[in-house]
Amino acid sequence: MKTLIKNGTVVNATGTARADVLIDGETIAAVLAPGSSLLGFDIERNVDTVIDAGGKYVIPGGIDAHTHMQMPFGGTEASDTFETGTRAAAHGGTTSIVDFVVQYAGENVIDQYKLWHEKALGNCAIDYGFHQILSDVQDSSLTAMDELVAEGVSSFKLFMAYKGVFLSDDGQIVKAMQRASDNGSMIMMHAENGSVIDLLVQQSLAAGKTAPFYHGITRPWQAEEEATHRAIMLANLTGAPLYIVHVSAKQAVEQIALARDNGQNVFGETCPQYLYLSLEDQLGASSEEWGDFEGAKWVCSTPLRSKAEGHQHHMWQSLRTNDIQMVSTDHCPFCMKGQKDMGLTDFSKIPNGIGSVEHRMDLLYQGVVDKKITLERWVEVCSTTPARMFGMYGKKGVIQPGADADVVIYDPNGHTSIGMPTDAHGAPTGRTHHMNMDYSAWEGYEIDGHVDTVLSRGKVIVDNNQYLGRKGDGQFVKRGLSQYLI
Ligand code: URP
Ligand code: ZN
Ligand code: ZN
Ligand code: ZN
Repeated sequence: MKTLIKNGTVVNATGTARADVLIDGETIAAVLAPGSSLLGFDIERNVDTVIDAGGKYVIPGGIDAHTHMQMPFGGTEASDTFETGTRAAAHGGTTSIVDFVVQYAGENVIDQYKLWHEKALGNCAIDYGFHQILSDVQDSSLTAMDELVAEGVSSFKLFMAYKGVFLSDDGQIVKAMQRASDNGSMIMMHAENGSVIDLLVQQSLAAGKTAPFYHGITRPWQAEEEATHRAIMLANLTGAPLYIVHVSAKQAVEQIALARDNGQNVFGETCPQYLYLSLEDQLGASSEEWGDFEGAKWVCSTPLRSKAEGHQHHMWQSLRTNDIQMVSTDHCPFCMKGQKDMGLTDFSKIPNGIGSVEHRMDLLYQGVVDKKITLERWVEVCSTTPARMFGMYGKKGVIQPGADADVVIYDPNGHTSIGMPTDAHGAPTGRTHHMNMDYSAWEGYEIDGHVDTVLSRGKVIVDNNQYLGRKGDGQFVKRGLSQYLI
């Protein structure tokens, strides 16, 4: 099966050019000057399918390196399965995810890893890799780290918060970092000072401050900055590469930038919610249905930050200047009914997480339209850097011969309305997202662009909002070590 994508504008992280893309089977065979022939051979007449991408961008498929499909968490389970979540991702122009295998304190790491393979196998619409979460690091976890690197799982997430659930103490963190320094893997850090947060939460609840808004108040930027700094120092001590996940505070960005200036292998990820949504939005949120519990829709950790304090503005700027390297969603969806509402009278019982896997490419493209980042930077932070950061570049993250034909045709003259509006009786009024959620954290967002066609390893899986793929199309990606390390 050969496909020619003609007349498009190919956008890579390194530059933009008018070019035709020839796909042979699952792979990009050639990137050619528009309308060119190969040694007198008329390409267009010798392919099975021609897609006209005139006036549109042809970009490498998005890579969302931070998702939690069907993750057991907060007394419930994230509402997207590997099937629904990856299908939604495909609709939004994302062609690979890296999801987190969870080891809770006391569980066996390798058993959990096998369990996650069982969950994903045969269910995914797009390719998927795994990071491994290590909770409460034990000696057995260290040997598991070596085994997993050999399996293509080259990154490990540790937590400085969520005591009794995920948290590792500083000694455990150092042990895991020493091992990462030896085997070349990446340490990913949830950088928030958990004991400080636990205290503030208890004090808030005791004072009767139980509404969702207090989730953010009890997770202040100081707790993020302090933990980010501590993680950086522990990584410095051990020589481990460090990737800070879901950065939301400008002060945490400053710590990352300082470490990078000092030559340390430290990287930062932010998420669409920290670029667009704010604590003020959450405070002001109220609805007929939920009252001020409406704010639960945006309860995630790290929390939304104050716009007045300038975090959002700083985050866009950091993305442009490479103080922050990439954008993932931290897709961790929960429904309001039956999940978020477990915290109706106590914000600390609201499962933490926001669902955005379908919207990342669009939300970041709006940053191009709004002149916050360039077109090439959009591709870089959404696809190329995630591929490089997590050992997939060459196959993923670039339009070039030999790469997997994971390609998105994006229409800059198109339009995307995000959300799932309902009529007065709560019935959907037409357009809706594809994530398995009963609300949208992004209701009402309008994007000046549109994902037209999505190819996953050469197969068209989405065309003009229609899903044409099948569950099980997606394959496990065995990753190498980070390509940012020398
Ligand atoms: O609120 C969040 N981020 N939920 C997912 C778990 C995590 O810490 O990434
Ligand atoms: Zn986290
Ligand atoms: Zn997460
Ligand atoms: Zn369109």
